[in-house]
Amino acid sequence: MSSASTANIDVLLSEHRRFPPPEPFRSHALVRDGTFAADADRDPVAFWEARARELEWITPWHSALEWTPPFAKWFLGGTLNASVNCVDRHIRGARRNAAAIIWEGEPGDRRTLTYWDLYREVNQAANMLRALGVKKGDRVAIYLPLVPEAVVSMLACARIGAIHSVVFGGFSPDSLRDRINDAGATVLITADGGYRRGQVVPLKRNADAAIAECPTIEHVVVVQRRSGSGPDESFAEMQEGRDHWWHRLMRKAAQWCEPEVMDAEDLLFILYTSGTTGKPKGIAHSTGGYLTGAAATMKYVFDLRDDDVFWCTADVGWITGHSYLTYGPLANGATCVLYEGAPDWPTQDRFWSMCERYGVTIFYTAPTAIRAFMKWGTSFVTPHDLSRLRLLGSVGEPINPEAWIWYHEVIGKGRCPIVDTWWQTETGAIMITPLPGATETKPGSATMPFPGIRAALMDANANEIVEGGGLLTITHPWPSMLRTIWGDRQRYVDTYFSKWPGRPDLYFAGDGAKRDADGYYWILGRVDDVLNVAGHRIGTMEVESALVDHPAVAEAAVVGKHHELKGQAIAAFVTLRAGHHASSELRDTLREHVALKIGALARPDDILFSADLPKTRSGKIMRRLLRDIAEGRALGDTTTLADPSVVASLKDQYESQES
Ligand code: WT7
Repeated sequence: MSSASTANIDVLLSEHRRFPPPEPFRSHALVRDGTFAADADRDPVAFWEARARELEWITPWHSALEWTPPFAKWFLGGTLNASVNCVDRHIRGARRNAAAIIWEGEPGDRRTLTYWDLYREVNQAANMLRALGVKKGDRVAIYLPLVPEAVVSMLACARIGAIHSVVFGGFSPDSLRDRINDAGATVLITADGGYRRGQVVPLKRNADAAIAECPTIEHVVVVQRRSGSGPDESFAEMQEGRDHWWHRLMRKAAQWCEPEVMDAEDLLFILYTSGTTGKPKGIAHSTGGYLTGAAATMKYVFDLRDDDVFWCTADVGWITGHSYLTYGPLANGATCVLYEGAPDWPTQDRFWSMCERYGVTIFYTAPTAIRAFMKWGTSFVTPHDLSRLRLLGSVGEPINPEAWIWYHEVIGKGRCPIVDTWWQTETGAIMITPLPGATETKPGSATMPFPGIRAALMDANANEIVEGGGLLTITHPWPSMLRTIWGDRQRYVDTYFSKWPGRPDLYFAGDGAKRDADGYYWILGRVDDVLNVAGHRIGTMEVESALVDHPAVAEAAVVGKHHELKGQAIAAFVTLRAGHHASSELRDTLREHVALKIGALARPDDILFSADLPKTRSGKIMRRLLRDIAEGRALGDTTTLADPSVVASLKDQYESQES
């Protein structure tokens, strides 16, 4: 367990505050007591079947679950189409004219799409992709800002059975290239640009740089995002034959597109996430199981009603943007707010002015954002009318009790329950969470597993820890679990189901957690070489590979250090090749180099040059000691080091650099 998390334990152990569901909320909630969860616990498979029945199927399944650890199949024999569930279903009923998407661009431009509008766009976009030769099972890469076309593109893929792979717009050309090539995508959907803090992010230019090395790409569709008059050539040079403007193709596309009949187990999408090696993993999700998990958690965790206005601040490039911007809300016919830009643009009250403008009732964000709001101060919040808010959510990293209380008091005015939701790209949907009308919450605890989910803590030998700290595992398959890692079944087995030898039925989440006497879970953070920087997962190996890719670098070791806002920040220890010398210019160059190779989110905060790295006699880098140095702690045990003087000199250097 990282030492950052051990420090957290003390804070969490002393947290004794309790927040029962407030009465006005509870009395109107979908779930008001423990019977819903207790029923699910008696028969999780029957519970999930009931949830799956809340979707629209073309043919019903003949068996609910086939579990050959570690491979699960859900709803066997069942067929459905995800886009029909998200759109067609609603235009036949009372939600036809309701807003599906209320979108705001960073510059302030706005668009609202009703379910009817969305239905038309999804059909046309599906026909557009078919006209470009995309067939069932083909992969389509999506590299877009947070514009309605991102959601439309995902649903259009789902309609024709193409597997989408959304790549976050903040990723670099190299990262985009690697993801396209791993998936073998034939079409890329991008935009001329997107807005971030008043600047244009040149997505098409990045895409051009990427696909110069992507042999499988046949067509590029470009959304015209830049406002004003017509496309700006400098942001989008269109290559004849290969590149097409989205709006031109859409004009030619027919209105009705027959949806593909998808098997429940057919893949819906791939989403790449960082692991403990340099190579990101393509997490593969199924159609029937994933949609069941996303839709059910959306409804019950967020206590969703037709008159709600739901705002999840995540980007479509992350799993949260898949499950709670797209599939979960739309499968339920919800109204969602989508915002393209930064929370502090043009001023630090952007989120609260938007909550007021659209009458947001459910707000779902990340602890890193909450800590930034705390720092900016309540004067940005209080002028805005937030009286429509009734429920708040948190996701992405452990929320410290102080931030939880601030969120509860300043944003929720003490009226709104908070759902702290633990889950992962791999789990597809929320796994550990309060049910806001039924669960008494404790600040800093994600509370208990969602109905139908079985979690436990284990020690290294798979002995269950009923009270105390251990490794978090899911002990029973669930519908929205990942099915494989794209192109690497063995890595799926090794990463998630091999932690406890002889127990391929236990899913290893990679997190450490504590369970208290009431059975509440307190997530402590990653126990592997994965960092969580501002709610985003970054592998230390990825950053190390990017550093050693620079000609000046001989060796690099990357660790996480506690950061007030981001949760964790990246600290890198670097040794240089002969002929290169440490300097502040080189430090800046290397930081930029990592941002260029991976994306700005991976830019190291600190780089320390060193003549040597602390290693064991067998040559293994002692990360624990590097973390101690990066966090300014007294050094732990150094007796196993090959050369103990290395760390002492590193520590001196680090401290002199800080001052
Ligand atoms: C990792 C998964 C799930 C969407 C966002 C991140 C951490 C996530 C919580 C939470 C404590 C959390 C875990 C997990 N995490 N939510 N409520 N409390 N930690 O998705 O990139 O797949 O990262 O985020 O460490 O393993 P992801």
